[in-house]
Amino acid sequence: MRRRHFEAFHPLCPHCLRSGAGEWHLVLAHVMAEQDDDILSGILQCANPGCLHEYPILGGIPLIVPELRRTLGERAVELLLRDDLDPLLESLLGDAVGPDSWFDSIRLTASTYGWDGYADLDPTEEVVPQGPQPGAVRRCLARLLELSPGATGGLVIDTGCGAGRTSFDLAERHPDALVLGCDVNLGMLRLARRAGEGRMRYPRRRIGLVYDRREFALCLPGAERVDFWACDATSLPFAPGRAGLVAALNLFDCVPDPRQLLAALAAHLAPGGSLLLATPYDWATRATPVTAWVGGHSQRGGTAGAAEPLLRALIAAQPGLTIRGEDPGFPWQTRLHDRSAVAYRAHLLAAVKQP
Ligand SMILES: C[S@@+](CC[C@H](N)C(=O)[O-])C[C@H]1O[C@@H](n2cnc3c(N)ncnc32)[C@H](O)[C@@H]1O
Repeated sequence: MRRRHFEAFHPLCPHCLRSGAGEWHLVLAHVMAEQDDDILSGILQCANPGCLHEYPILGGIPLIVPELRRTLGERAVELLLRDDLDPLLESLLGDAVGPDSWFDSIRLTASTYGWDGYADLDPTEEVVPQGPQPGAVRRCLARLLELSPGATGGLVIDTGCGAGRTSFDLAERHPDALVLGCDVNLGMLRLARRAGEGRMRYPRRRIGLVYDRREFALCLPGAERVDFWACDATSLPFAPGRAGLVAALNLFDCVPDPRQLLAALAAHLAPGGSLLLATPYDWATRATPVTAWVGGHSQRGGTAGAAEPLLRALIAAQPGLTIRGEDPGFPWQTRLHDRSAVAYRAHLLAAVKQP
């Protein structure tokens, strides 16, 4: 966690926010390891004497989430899992635990998002012209920035940042900005952080349980202005009204309550701030209960099951927020293995908060 980001974003205790105890800042209670302005290992603590909740900084990533116990129980393995095992040993472990295991699920996510984010910088990558092309999410972001030409910098939050390449793109596009990439997937955040340090290592799935280790150096402009924190986008630990730009690329259909997500993101925008949204409305009950889907059900209802008018109406209902530009079906794909990718048409929406 970079000190510069900690001071600028000035995080609040998510537990106090959620329980209604008010806006209490987090203080750096312990710093166990630090390099330059980057705290690699430490403990944040709530300043509220009646709370004193603690939040760890592990491998440079602060975990500032409202339900720390649950997050650690479900996701700590993503962060603590060794990624420096010899590839032969990793392959043996992968074969032993098999497909559909937690191990394979972590590798597959790293493969899909590591490849989309960074394969363009991999000197050994051979992109097949008729196959998927890396950078799908970056192209969504570039199109959204076209739709929102005056988007300002300042404090920029890239929610659901995954492997983090869009956070670096946002820093490059806004040279005055401090960018925070937020996600709840600790493995993705680790990958993103490594990219900022100039090295990439991820398992690239060839087929089945066969993965190739990809390892290369990279240099991302503006990386020193990017930091990655584990935060829940529906409960961001900040005072409202401070962000110049909030991005949520392919996140809307991944949370239990998309309406709550939209309201939370809109609330964090400063006057004149931009909200950049991309979503393929790829609803699945493992992420979102049917009752919370925005469209995609109840085709007998007012919009005949269409999501787009519902999302537009939800945006228009946020105080001061207006739609600035829209692309109804922009290509976005996720690569699964050498012979498989899922092609989506994402709905892109850029909105602005009235100054
Ligand atoms: C479909 S992926 C998209 C990743 C990246 N933005 C892209 O488009 O390639 C959704 C991401 O959102 C993250 N995510 C899901 N729920 C979240 C939440 N409540 N807060 C923050 N991130 C979340 C997931 O861990 C995952 O990295």
